[in-house]
Amino acid sequence: MTEMRMCSWPTQVSLTEVCPRDGLQNLSAWIPTPEKLALIDGLMASGLKRIEATSFVHPAAIPQMKDADIVARHAVAQARSLGVEIAALVPNLKGAERALTCGITRVNYVISASPQHNLKNINRTPQASLAELQTLRHALPELEVTLIVATAFGCPFQGAVPIADVAALLRAGREMGISRFTLCDTIGVANPRQTVQLLQQLRLALPELDPALHMHNTHGMALASIYAAIGQGVTRFESAAGGLGGCPFAPGAAGNAATEDLVNMLNRMGIAHGVDLGRLLQVVDRLQGLAPAALSGMLSHARRYDEFEFSQP
Ligand code: COA
Ligand code: ZN
Repeated sequence: MTEMRMCSWPTQVSLTEVCPRDGLQNLSAWIPTPEKLALIDGLMASGLKRIEATSFVHPAAIPQMKDADIVARHAVAQARSLGVEIAALVPNLKGAERALTCGITRVNYVISASPQHNLKNINRTPQASLAELQTLRHALPELEVTLIVATAFGCPFQGAVPIADVAALLRAGREMGISRFTLCDTIGVANPRQTVQLLQQLRLALPELDPALHMHNTHGMALASIYAAIGQGVTRFESAAGGLGGCPFAPGAAGNAATEDLVNMLNRMGIAHGVDLGRLLQVVDRLQGLAPAALSGMLSHARRYDEFEFSQP
């Protein structure tokens, strides 16, 4: 009863699936393009309504994404009749131009809050990335943009990232008319208390922000931090089927929060999300055949106990 008074859980949250981009980008073995298309089809069939299908980056930086054009065109075509939103990650104007050519209408433009990670990842300072975003907004006004703030919870090179640096990027994005934002724990070091503190301080600085979260599970705290964020009113989360993922330019980064584990937690908590867990686990089974060593989700290896309702009378 005490918990009932303290928490007001949302009835529903929205999930964005990033396995086709973040999940695959760090795999050294080439995933054949038809497998990528089947992955996207399987994710849509599971009920996922937002998918980050690929990234339009330099093929030398991320060889796994060199088939971005084919993958994006397929995803956009398949998504149309299903009401699925397809987005692609872009690091610069050239990436956004490529995305638009393939029918993508929303790009996830990534900038790291920590200068060193942005230099390693995007080969420019965060200020230069922001200036390029401004150019992009003027050059391609028809393109919707989500601003992705990488290393918002910690950087592999500088350690702690001042909340003021995160807020400055978000504020600059808002001044450019951007209305969707994602805070990324690129290296998976966030803890639940830090998550609450970051969200509360950002709410003071930018009250209308309503960011999504993108957590990695490097230290096993992704779901705990998501749980803490749900308690703070966050209702949009990014995750990857199989718990695949990681940025090749962030040493030590491991997989994303596994979508199937997040879906299972939400099911157990009675929070709606629109995803069919059985179908999603079929997708994870197929990933098992492609990248067995990289899978990090729990549920695909565990008994599900679906026959039981564990809420206590
Ligand atoms: N896609 C394909 N090619 C691109 C490109 C893009 N988005 N952006 C630039 N290029 C090409 C340019 O056309 C140019 O080609 P050229 O030599 O034939 O003329 C060349 O790359 C160099 O352009 P430049 O603007 O100097 O890029 P850069 O070498 O500074 O690299 C990035 C910058 C952003 C393209 C590169 O660092 C990158 O792709 N990073 C992505 C990292 C990533 O995906 N991380 C994980 C996700 S967060
Ligand atoms: Zn990530």
